[in-house]
Amino acid sequence: MDKIVVLDAGSQYTHLISNRIRRLGVYTEIHDLSTPLQDFWDEEVKGIVLSGGPHSVYEENPPWVDAGVFEKEVPVLGICYGLQLMVKQLGGEVRPAGSAGACNREFGKAHLKVQDYGGLLNGLGEEEVVWVSHGDTATKLPEGFRVLGSTEDCYTAAITDGRKYFGLQFHPEVTHTENGMKIIDNYLEAVGCGREWTSDRYLEEVRDEVIRGLGDNDVLALVSGGVDSTTMATMLGEIVRENRLPNKVYAVHIDNGFMRKGESELVERALKGYGIDVTVFDKSDYFFSRLEGVVDPEEKRRIIGDSFMMVQNEIIPALEKKYGTSINRDKLLIAQGTIYPDRIESGSTEHSDKIKTHHNRSPLVVEFLEQGKIIEPLQWFYKDEVRALGRELGLPGEISERHPFPGPGGAIRVLNVRQEETVPPELGGRLGGVGLDGYKATGLPIRSVGVQGDNRSYTRVCLLQGEKDWEALEGLSTKITNEFADINRVVYLLRPDAAEGARTIEDSYTTRERLDLWKEADQITMNHLREHDLLGKIAQCPTVLIPVDFNGSGKETVVLRPVETDNFMTVSFSKIDWNIVSELAGRLFELPGVGAVLWDVTHKPPGTTEWE
Ligand code: XMP
Repeated sequence: MDKIVVLDAGSQYTHLISNRIRRLGVYTEIHDLSTPLQDFWDEEVKGIVLSGGPHSVYEENPPWVDAGVFEKEVPVLGICYGLQLMVKQLGGEVRPAGSAGACNREFGKAHLKVQDYGGLLNGLGEEEVVWVSHGDTATKLPEGFRVLGSTEDCYTAAITDGRKYFGLQFHPEVTHTENGMKIIDNYLEAVGCGREWTSDRYLEEVRDEVIRGLGDNDVLALVSGGVDSTTMATMLGEIVRENRLPNKVYAVHIDNGFMRKGESELVERALKGYGIDVTVFDKSDYFFSRLEGVVDPEEKRRIIGDSFMMVQNEIIPALEKKYGTSINRDKLLIAQGTIYPDRIESGSTEHSDKIKTHHNRSPLVVEFLEQGKIIEPLQWFYKDEVRALGRELGLPGEISERHPFPGPGGAIRVLNVRQEETVPPELGGRLGGVGLDGYKATGLPIRSVGVQGDNRSYTRVCLLQGEKDWEALEGLSTKITNEFADINRVVYLLRPDAAEGARTIEDSYTTRERLDLWKEADQITMNHLREHDLLGKIAQCPTVLIPVDFNGSGKETVVLRPVETDNFMTVSFSKIDWNIVSELAGRLFELPGVGAVLWDVTHKPPGTTEWE
């Protein structure tokens, strides 16, 4: 079968590139960028894609591609770092933002002005919305190359030699690049390969892989009640039933104390209703005790992931008692609903950066994985594909279309701070230079996580005060995060009407009291969005509690982070009716512990969906 090889330089999106090409009917294989040509080359390879990645071509020993790739008579498409690598290896030049002749850094939304369709951009308009995430740009193209399109901040956004080389500085594979699939389709047309791949084949492959992975083990399926883990448990149950396998699947739900208000009860009722006999364990005391005094977001994430593994020791005897059976610990696998974004964000490939440790990739989980004790049937899936599978398995819409909720839950939505480690709020008047169009900009004394140029960032948050104008806020937010390397997130003040002198609330940690306040705020937010029928348009809405006080009252600040996306690899912040926004801010402001309400106006990139 004809195939395209995707060479991975460590991008967050490498697997997504492969996924998009397969959706267009062409079989793909992913190999590490540095793989020698002879190890992946055969007559079936009809095209080669070079992915993006967190490196720079001018650093010492960057990931390099076998030069033989450029000698083969197949079309090569370089994306982001892949474009830069191609330019460099074929004799051009690449420079960092800010240096002579280079363009600016760009993250998130940009506008591509097409000047020449060149095959690759056929069928597009003169101006297209594209998604970008880079600091470096090609400043001199190799001989024979020409520019097809440019963004405001990058002249060499789309290039070709008109024959077999194509390069894109933006990401056609992410859904926020509106005509990205058309561009990939154009590349496949240039390749001229057969389109024989189907998603049914893929599902068959996955089922076979799960059966092989099960062997003669029983399974402890960890079910949070979210779409991933519920689909995973249902799929395992179906595979065992359909194939008349002897394996037993025990579904367990661990209440870590960081779930939404009333969530564990709801999950238990709902899952039982769908025929999943889930056993619920309240282990909240244990989780809270392990997070005592912890501030660092990554440490929190590692502790939470490890704790899910640690509590197994107490769970198994309880299950034995419930089912009146003995469970062989040496023949027991743990099943997790891990999906592909969890793995890539946790830094799972050779050249990729760790953006954040998802709870299902904590050190102890990794140890168990290496020992072959864990099975993850959905490890190659994206959120939209899990939903489709869930529907196919007969799960009701209220589960398959549910908003995702992260395993560490409220614990990563309630930010902690130790006084001596806070960030000074002043931005030093530097922002004046970007043209604030009447908005007032100040800094918040905390940091949040972002993803920029395939790298993790953990930098500052800028607060804007002024007109209720989504377009102005979007433009300004992008400008600020592109311009200032130490700011990865921008928020807008909803309540009170004006704020001065943000201070952190000293020594704020993960306590039941703060989690209770978060649960109230989260419930108000979710109910409000549901009442206004917005839970379809909005894909997820983290409510974040930050220990920041604007008026000396000691009250905390709530940040609302509604996002729109289908697979969470990129997101855009939600712009909804200002009356609905103001009403929600008013309801939250009535909570006795809440002193301010903010709206996150940051896309991903540069900000991630969650704050830590
Ligand atoms: P970010 O913040 O990386 O989130 O843009 C992308 C999606 O992943 C969810 N998320 C997690 N899910 N365990 C999970 O199961 C985790 O540790 C975790 N961290 C983030 C996030 O809520 C969003 O849907």
